[in-house]
Amino acid sequence: MTTPVLVTERLVLRQIGEDDLDPHMTLLNTPAVMEHLGGVQPREVIAAKHAASREGFATRGYGFMIMEERATGEMVGHCGLRHVAHPLAPNPEDFEIGWVVREDRWRRGYAFEAMRAVIDWGFATHNAPRIVAITTARNVGSWRLMEKLGMIRAAHLDFNDPAMPPAYNPAIQYALVQGQWGPTP
Ligand SMILES: CC(C)(COP(=O)(O)OP(=O)(O)OC[C@H]1O[C@@H](n2cnc3c(N)ncnc32)[C@H](O)[C@@H]1OP(=O)(O)O)[C@@H](O)C(=O)NCCC(=O)NCCS
Repeated sequence: MTTPVLVTERLVLRQIGEDDLDPHMTLLNTPAVMEHLGGVQPREVIAAKHAASREGFATRGYGFMIMEERATGEMVGHCGLRHVAHPLAPNPEDFEIGWVVREDRWRRGYAFEAMRAVIDWGFATHNAPRIVAITTARNVGSWRLMEKLGMIRAAHLDFNDPAMPPAYNPAIQYALVQGQWGPTP
């Protein structure tokens, strides 16, 4: 196992190793999980995301991580903190959080539990002035999660992504600024 970064009641969020690509492809790169993220992605796209996360940790100390279930040691998600990655987003200076959870683990509170820890980490350890999350109106589960995390709709940051079909546009943003976030009890 690679270095654990954050530990919660039921999860470990750890850095991404070379061995994580195969299970990521099988467990997380599925039609259901990727429905709102452009569909199932080629192996090289996921490998490039892993490489970007490793580079993020090496140069800045943060990136996306593997979400591992403590009870089983299994990979159950991929989530983390980075700078806004989409080249068309109007706010490349912001920190961005993102997540996917394995479909047989949905609605257990894993994304909420993981992302509270990631937001704490972003504000307390990495001194993020503002943390955003990006989704689409049709990804109801994702924006409801943003609202449950206390994030505020930031419509002025919405943008169009011509690579996505019209139904997936615009990309919409939610935001949290330091001071709006209460530390995890
Ligand atoms: C979005 C996603 C990460 C949620 O993960 P999860 O672990 O099931 O979420 P949680 O159990 O922590 O849910 C937390 C809250 O999010 C909201 N939520 C999550 N899934 C939802 C759904 N399908 N419908 C409506 N609200 C949902 C609810 O408010 C929920 O709180 P509640 O259970 O008290 O009602 C998961 O559905 C997923 O991986 N989806 C596919 C990938 C994806 O679209 N990622 C986001 C890209 S922007």
